Amino acid sequence: MSGIPVWAQLIYLLAAVCFILALKGLSSPRHARRGNAVGAVGAVVACVVVFFYGHLHHVPAILVAIAVGTAVGFVGARRVQMTQMPQLVALFNGVGGGAAALVALLELADLLDSSGDSSGAHVAKFTLAATTFTILVGSVSFAGSLVTFAKLQELMTSRPVVFRGLPVAFALSLVAAVVLAVLVVTQPALYLGAILAVVGLLLGVLLVLPVGGADVPIVISLLNAFTGLTVAAGGYVLDNTLLLVAGTLVGASGTFLTKLMASAMGRSVVNILFGALRGGSTLGAGVASDRPVRSAGPEDVAILLAYAHRVIVVPGYGLAVAQAQHTLRELVDLLGERGIKVDYAIHPVAGRMPGHMNVLLAEAQVPYEQLREMDDINPEFKQTDVVLVVGANDVVNPAAKTTPGAPIYGMPILHADEAQQVVFMKRSMRPGFAGIENQLLFDPRTTLLFGDAKDSLGKILSAVKAL
Ligand code: TAP
Repeated sequence: MSGIPVWAQLIYLLAAVCFILALKGLSSPRHARRGNAVGAVGAVVACVVVFFYGHLHHVPAILVAIAVGTAVGFVGARRVQMTQMPQLVALFNGVGGGAAALVALLELADLLDSSGDSSGAHVAKFTLAATTFTILVGSVSFAGSLVTFAKLQELMTSRPVVFRGLPVAFALSLVAAVVLAVLVVTQPALYLGAILAVVGLLLGVLLVLPVGGADVPIVISLLNAFTGLTVAAGGYVLDNTLLLVAGTLVGASGTFLTKLMASAMGRSVVNILFGALRGGSTLGAGVASDRPVRSAGPEDVAILLAYAHRVIVVPGYGLAVAQAQHTLRELVDLLGERGIKVDYAIHPVAGRMPGHMNVLLAEAQVPYEQLREMDDINPEFKQTDVVLVVGANDVVNPAAKTTPGAPIYGMPILHADEAQQVVFMKRSMRPGFAGIENQLLFDPRTTLLFGDAKDSLGKILSAVKAL
């Protein structure tokens, strides 16, 4: 029977409803802010309630920990650049998994104490199994998330780290983890739980080391799903319905997100995790091409745009790097005032994190109606006069359709190659994230405008105004 009083359970239920409404709100940019706020209110209420019913020990230490965590989280979240968001999520996710593993270890000690039998023979096996799962998967998630953070923050190489014996070390750790998990359930002892946690940390590191930098956001999403499942299992162990609901929501949404991102990149999760172990790099070579291309100045591009009827903008990672979203919106607004129909074509994996372009353009107050999803806008490229590709590359690379063996082969792309004219804005002939040449750059209908996107867009804007 749960030790949580009914009134507190009801408040937890309310908090769980807040989390579900938050997810619903986050599913559309229009309601995302409200959704986020509703979720935050639910989380705060859930944290406060425990002070009113629990017989808490060490309250001053808990309050100090909360104050420190809040201050670090607040300052960190305010300071972080949009392009650093994946590593912030990785860090938050890692501490969540680590906390769940620690709580499960303490709970294991409590279960052994309260059964009055140090052999743990009287503790329900299912409870022990849930505790063991939380210790193991929470530790994997903690260590894996720290490695993903180090990769994205460039504290270590972001290329796949593969060494001789890595597959064997991984397999041995996996076997050790399974054996230890079975032992913790059948002959529970705190020291076995602690060893299991250490093996979990090792597994987390070995799992993420071979993943290439650009695949890391997907692994973060996968680890996020792991953390959700550990929290759900922790909820079962602690008899806490709210943790059960919240953990299940995170586990399910993390799993969906991982699957969606992987299929939007035309890859399988297994290939992302173990591609480097099987000998093939998860990234292309990334050599800049020296083949001739047609380039033009901002004034020429301004003329192309100003005399078009239909323009589609394809934003990509470079737009985020250049922080050119405000200048881009000004240009699109100006073209709109001149009677030109302009939309933004949003590829699901443009940029480096899910929803990257939506967040970036929403920050510049771009109306949601102008943000068109890939499947919706693809049929319209054929009737488009000019496609303006701003810092994007892979998401319009026809190699995804034409070149079996290319790292992006099979990835659905935006059909920019079907338009009358294509303008690429980039700084050099370096390839995009996948590290492969883009044939569209050499197409006779393509023009390149070299330079930083913000700088070039500013010049095009002035040139259009002067026309
Ligand atoms: P990319 O293919 O990476 O191309 C980015 C382009 O931006 C490059 O051509 C680069 O060329 C240009 N660029 C960089 N900085 C710039 C600046 N300051 N001004 C102008 N141009 C600049 O980007 P994409 O088309 O958005 O594709 C995303 C890629 O990331 C896909 O391969 C996707 O699979 C991968 N990925 C996405 C995610 C998510 S969830 N979004 C997660 C992991 C991986 P220069 O260097 O020559 O300027």
